[in-house]
Amino acid sequence: MHRFTTRCRGAAMAADARRHRALSFAIAATATAAAAATLAISLALSTPAHAQSGGKPAAPAASAASAPIKVGFMLPYSGTYAALGNAIENGFRLYVQEQGGKLGGKDVEFHKVDDESDPAKAPENANKLIKRDQVDVVVGTVHSGVQMAIVKVAKENNTLLIIPNAGADEATGPLCGPNVFRSSFSNWQPGYAMGEVVANRGMKRVVTLTWKYAAGEQSVRGFKEAFEKRGGKVMRELTLPFPNVEFQALITEIASLKPDAVFVFFAGGGAVKFVKDWAAAGLKDKIPLYASGFLTDGTLQAQGAAAQGLETTLHYADGLTNPRDQSFRAAYAKAYKLQPDVYAVQGYDAAQMLAAGVKAVNGDMSRKNDVYKAIGAARIDSPRGAFTLSRAHNPVQDFYLRKVEGTENRSVGIAAKALADPARGCRL
Ligand code: BEZ
Repeated sequence: MHRFTTRCRGAAMAADARRHRALSFAIAATATAAAAATLAISLALSTPAHAQSGGKPAAPAASAASAPIKVGFMLPYSGTYAALGNAIENGFRLYVQEQGGKLGGKDVEFHKVDDESDPAKAPENANKLIKRDQVDVVVGTVHSGVQMAIVKVAKENNTLLIIPNAGADEATGPLCGPNVFRSSFSNWQPGYAMGEVVANRGMKRVVTLTWKYAAGEQSVRGFKEAFEKRGGKVMRELTLPFPNVEFQALITEIASLKPDAVFVFFAGGGAVKFVKDWAAAGLKDKIPLYASGFLTDGTLQAQGAAAQGLETTLHYADGLTNPRDQSFRAAYAKAYKLQPDVYAVQGYDAAQMLAAGVKAVNGDMSRKNDVYKAIGAARIDSPRGAFTLSRAHNPVQDFYLRKVEGTENRSVGIAAKALADPARGCRL
């Protein structure tokens, strides 16, 4: 297990950025190469701390007053979502660096586990951070299926959980809890915002396409709710298994259905491949393609001409004019030699949420209920625009309508103002 202190600044951040670029969208890698990379990463991440200091045992535990805040990243560092996990970690670390490497006056110690976006390994991975490493907070994850297991383990152990991406509606719905917070979105939210946009444009017959797992299915459900409420009809819901990228047969089927428009959910490496395949099939200028913004966020360099003009809805965009976003973008670019994306913003805001909790208890993380109360009541000064949390602990936030221009998702307006997830089934 790596233990990183936040004292490692420029060099380590630039190294992280290089790793981020190297891992980005390695979708052409063979299965063997991917398995070898996964193994290498998991070996590196599970190296005990004492092995890093020339085989000497780790120092004895610090006293409670001087003990650092222990942050456990459970994120994908391999596979189709690897770039997303790295961006979240980068954003989180940037905020901590900006506070002089401390939160609430205390040092911060990082632990990390590669969750590989694999739900089957999720309970064991979550327990590594919670039981073995005894972290104060789990920051994870990206994939909705993995998230469900983390929520369960965090609730069983009453460990603070901040979800920096995965939209699983259940986490701030029927599985909500006093210790479960999200800095990102529910899957319902960006889908619902786009359903309104497409209906308001007079489209009537839409086909949807996504990976068959919670994120895709719940995005489609949000889209359908808003779209059909306004008189539209989802005529066919197409899916393929996650993280399959064999889109050709489905694209051919869509072309034969001749819908007014198509709504999709894809992200990371799969989103790059889908956008390129859609354009290569000649459908880009024939059938309007709409999506939640993950289709084009952090992916535009790789998608190139195929993405130009695509419109999506998301809680972040390029071209925002708030000073908080401008300073965040400048700092991120300086630290990592990269432009930030929505995932970096969500990581940054997860750190801001943790900071609100730590500050309220002067660093005494044993006062769990006070930490939870403070995070729940916080107003987060986010680069996306300030937000508060709903009673279910999900951001109430604006959803931008964005259009791809060059390598930017330019905001062209607000699609849904202060949109709150309905939090169905949450009894908080
Ligand atoms: C999810 O699994 O919840 C998810 C993954 C990538 C982007 C957005 C959502």
